[in-house]
Amino acid sequence: MSDADAIIKAATNKPVDYSPGLEDVVAAKSRLCEIDGKAGKLYYCGYSIEDLAQNSSYEEVCYLLWYGRLPRHEELEDLRRIFRETRELPTEVLGFIEHLPHKAHPMDALRTIVSLLATFDLNPENTPEANLKRAIKLTAQIPTIIAAFQRLRMNQKPVAPHEKLGHAANFLYMLSGEEPDEGTAKVMDLSLVLHADHEMNASTFASLVTASTLSDIYSAVTSGIGTLKGSLHGGANESVLKMLQEIGDPNKVEDFVEQSRAKKARIMGFGHRVYKNYDPRARILKEYARRLSAKTKFSRYFQINDELEKVMQDKYGRRGIFPNVDLYSGIVYHHMDIPIDLFTPIFALSRVAGWTAHVLEYWQDNRLFRPAAAYIGSAPREYVPESNR
Ligand code: SDX
Repeated sequence: MSDADAIIKAATNKPVDYSPGLEDVVAAKSRLCEIDGKAGKLYYCGYSIEDLAQNSSYEEVCYLLWYGRLPRHEELEDLRRIFRETRELPTEVLGFIEHLPHKAHPMDALRTIVSLLATFDLNPENTPEANLKRAIKLTAQIPTIIAAFQRLRMNQKPVAPHEKLGHAANFLYMLSGEEPDEGTAKVMDLSLVLHADHEMNASTFASLVTASTLSDIYSAVTSGIGTLKGSLHGGANESVLKMLQEIGDPNKVEDFVEQSRAKKARIMGFGHRVYKNYDPRARILKEYARRLSAKTKFSRYFQINDELEKVMQDKYGRRGIFPNVDLYSGIVYHHMDIPIDLFTPIFALSRVAGWTAHVLEYWQDNRLFRPAAAYIGSAPREYVPESNR
């Protein structure tokens, strides 16, 4: 037993069950998402991410996560209708967005406005049905918040949601004011499918901790957004693009990795708490990043990433440090002319389905999250008056 374990055992007088960062600790039971970290496999409600990426849509994956099964045609059409009907933001909310500092980070803007939405929801009903309705409405409105903030900080008028377009296509439309081509909309939809859920990741756990106190779903989603922002989690996709810009040339990759190792700095887009193999989402996104890069002048970023993969495999592969979902998502968004600081908000507009699905599931058998801390501070001691210190 290590010294630290011995201290903890003495301090807590319990078997040592301290795991830094709760690594490998099971925090809840769930039917929503399964990850096989060794094999690099991911399933939503039993369906593989490869099958869903190939055949499904973000709206269908939302239905799957909220209801636990794939929808029949009329059920999916009904969800699409509700999304279309609830995307619009109240005028007052748009007014708040207009007054946000244009230099604010879009994740701060998103977190603020989701929190604000709670003040407009005066419905006291707190049933599973009412909370599912809130989950659907939040999922419909978050893209509108992000797009409105983007337009307003560029001194452009917000674009009202399109009456006919699907979730991904409508988001791109509200960003640019033009209907996206089918191929681009399909790639965005695919990326939203890939990011929709991921078992007990940090932001989902944060949402659940908030929900477990019987707080509300807006507070739970606000916790999720705040947690996702960090560069060790969803913020990594933005950090990867900045890293590629810093490296600048595939021939400089080796030096960059060596310098990072010397500083014990993490290379963004690599490594994962659960995957000790290639993240299956990264494998899918890499293919799209390759195709998109081939067509444009940004192919340099893809080449740098490809070289990074080779160098990291050589230096870290044996330690189970592989590409994760954030390594290629940024390149895909960059090719859509999406600003780098919108990459993590796009992660959030997808993951809100997973956050809310886990919250609704957890509330069915709720229990307050309240872990312990192993006290390793001072033994009890007498107070010393200020004059005697
Ligand atoms: C996401 O949990 C989820 O499911 C998250 C997510 C989701 O869909 O919700 O998949 C999305 O957040 C993906 C991860 C995005 N983050 C990054 O790309 C940031 C870079 N990655 C690392 O910071 C790291 O890999 C973590 C945070 C993702 C996971 O790290 P762990 O499990 O806490 O492991 P660790 O930091 O303790 O590292 C263990 C060892 C260390 O070496 P030693 O100190 O023991 O010698 O591995 C090394 C680390 O230095 N290591 C890395 C590394 N990742 C781990 N070294 C260099 N570069 C890296 N990227």
